[in-house]
Amino acid sequence: MNDLIRSLVEAYGPSGFEDGVRDLIRPLIEPHADEVTVDALGNLIARKRATTGEANPLKVMIAAHMDEIGIMASHITEKGFLRFTNIGGVGSHTLLGGRVRFADGTLGIIGVDRMEDRNSIHPLNKHFIDVGATSRENCPVRVGDAAHFVRPFEARGRHLTAKSMDDRIGCAVAIEALRRLPADVSHDLYFVFSVQEEVGTRGAEAAANGIMPDVSIALDVTLTGDVPESRPMDVRLGAGPAIKVKDSGMIAHAGLVRLMRRRAEEAGIDYQLEVLEGGTTDARPMQLAGPGSVAGCISIPCRYVHTPSETVDASDVEGAVALLVTLLSADMEL
Ligand code: CO
Ligand code: ZN
Repeated sequence: MNDLIRSLVEAYGPSGFEDGVRDLIRPLIEPHADEVTVDALGNLIARKRATTGEANPLKVMIAAHMDEIGIMASHITEKGFLRFTNIGGVGSHTLLGGRVRFADGTLGIIGVDRMEDRNSIHPLNKHFIDVGATSRENCPVRVGDAAHFVRPFEARGRHLTAKSMDDRIGCAVAIEALRRLPADVSHDLYFVFSVQEEVGTRGAEAAANGIMPDVSIALDVTLTGDVPESRPMDVRLGAGPAIKVKDSGMIAHAGLVRLMRRRAEEAGIDYQLEVLEGGTTDARPMQLAGPGSVAGCISIPCRYVHTPSETVDASDVEGAVALLVTLLSADMEL
């Protein structure tokens, strides 16, 4: 599975510019879906129809977001340096000395304006990007061009590190689950590879309003409380996928949480319960779409979220795939 993960996490896809990730995922899911479509926002939607002849099969939407955080050039100086704005949650403390790459392959180095106090952190607008240009005229980047952070994928035993585990690892879980599902399923499954999550769960909102699911499951990363002086949180790397109970944007459906726990226990899958105090996922817009849906989230614990070294544990990833497959393969008594 590491080859799949590597190709996904190294791909270019800041929010609004997910085309490359979509082109990568589409051929991987086509053999396992009855129908694959792309909507106006760019969401990639793979439908696997219920085959067991039920009159009103449940519509189940599974969402993992293709986009990643990044930056966008907002101003080019006379000397050819770029000022930029954030795409999604980019922390100033993650920038200095970092590298970004634009869609055309142009590499940029992030520098910072002169610092009086070396212990302080400059805000984002005091940083600039050096693409090797010497003037506005010979700068290969234009205002509005987007870049992602670059850092190669690394596997250290079970720990996997990359710049966009959030949420390409969710995409990997969805792809792998779709591959492993039995040919015959009793629900209408919609696997959505969503766009623009990092700027406010926009893609999933549009997709959910189109699909109108009965049941919604997001696949995304969550924070952990297992590094020095982290905010106390009972989620750690290597203890299994986390079944979300609450985050700052949604409270998971209690019946779906119970069902996920029961399926995990029956299948012998280690799991954790997640209460996340900051952040949310595509489960929020799915829960609130149309007349509302039964919503939950399977989270992959991740250290250093929104830095170029997001780190997950391969056994948690494997557990998330197993949990999703067992959940989707059987009846859902909610
Ligand atoms: Co994120
Ligand atoms: Zn995410």
